[in-house]
Amino acid sequence: MSKIKIHVCSNELESWDTIWKWKWFTRDVWENVYWKEEQATLRPLFPLLHKLNIKSILDCSCGLGFKTILFAKRGFEVEGSDGSPNAIKYAPQLAKEKRVKIRFFLSRYEELGEKCKRKYDCVFSDNFDEIETYKYMKVAAKNIHSILNNDGKLIFSALPPHFSRKDLKKVIEKEWRKTKRFDVDAPYEKDGIRVTRIEVNEKTSEGILENNIFLIEEHGVLRVEIAQIMNPRIKWTWKDYYKVLKEAGFSEVYSTKENFAVAIK
Ligand SMILES: C[S@@+](CC[C@H](N)C(=O)[O-])C[C@H]1O[C@@H](n2cnc3c(N)ncnc32)[C@H](O)[C@@H]1O
Repeated sequence: MSKIKIHVCSNELESWDTIWKWKWFTRDVWENVYWKEEQATLRPLFPLLHKLNIKSILDCSCGLGFKTILFAKRGFEVEGSDGSPNAIKYAPQLAKEKRVKIRFFLSRYEELGEKCKRKYDCVFSDNFDEIETYKYMKVAAKNIHSILNNDGKLIFSALPPHFSRKDLKKVIEKEWRKTKRFDVDAPYEKDGIRVTRIEVNEKTSEGILENNIFLIEEHGVLRVEIAQIMNPRIKWTWKDYYKVLKEAGFSEVYSTKENFAVAIK
């Protein structure tokens, strides 16, 4: 009997890259619902962007570019970056299908300073609050600071400022109560490849660890790819953000009633 190859992604970014590869492959199944979710997520952000007179945006954790495309459709001058090569490979195809021209480029947060060819009024991230370590968050914040225009803004979603570390534990418990322990997606087959995703979730001290187990059958051979992400990571208090952003050089940091954090250069 032949052995089954099992690949476990070695870090979160590689996990995201694997997830985007299979998300793109199975996109007919989930894309329509995802567009609606993304629109709903961005709805409260647009009035804030207008109020802050923002014209240009870098969506610095753009994934396949859904939010980036929605920014472009709203008339913002937008670019998208991400550390996942697969995301950056497919995002331009999605944008082309949606008839918007967007520059997407591969960049981890620590590379933004060197990879960006311009400065922006705003850097938006739906991943900044999910960064794993304080040290890396500081590196990310410094790089973001360097690519903002004077008075430019970093905007990300964050829990309300009064949440203490004890409150975060309660948020994790609440999240865990509504999370399925495991789930199996229907197998999806295309171009001679059949993929089945199994999701196994674990509660941890810093959020919910989502184990994505992809069973891939190709030419009669089965292989397995395992991608782990903290989804969501519930680790950082407002004090942490405030400290890290001030250390990175931001002059002012505040939260909005819609629970966005705004850091001003
Ligand atoms: C929540 S997903 C983004 C989803 C995407 N914005 C959307 O609306 O569909 C988080 C993203 O952060 C990216 N990411 C994670 N770590 C990163 C890093 N160190 N540098 C750059 N991007 C990173 C992942 O590749 C992933 O695309």
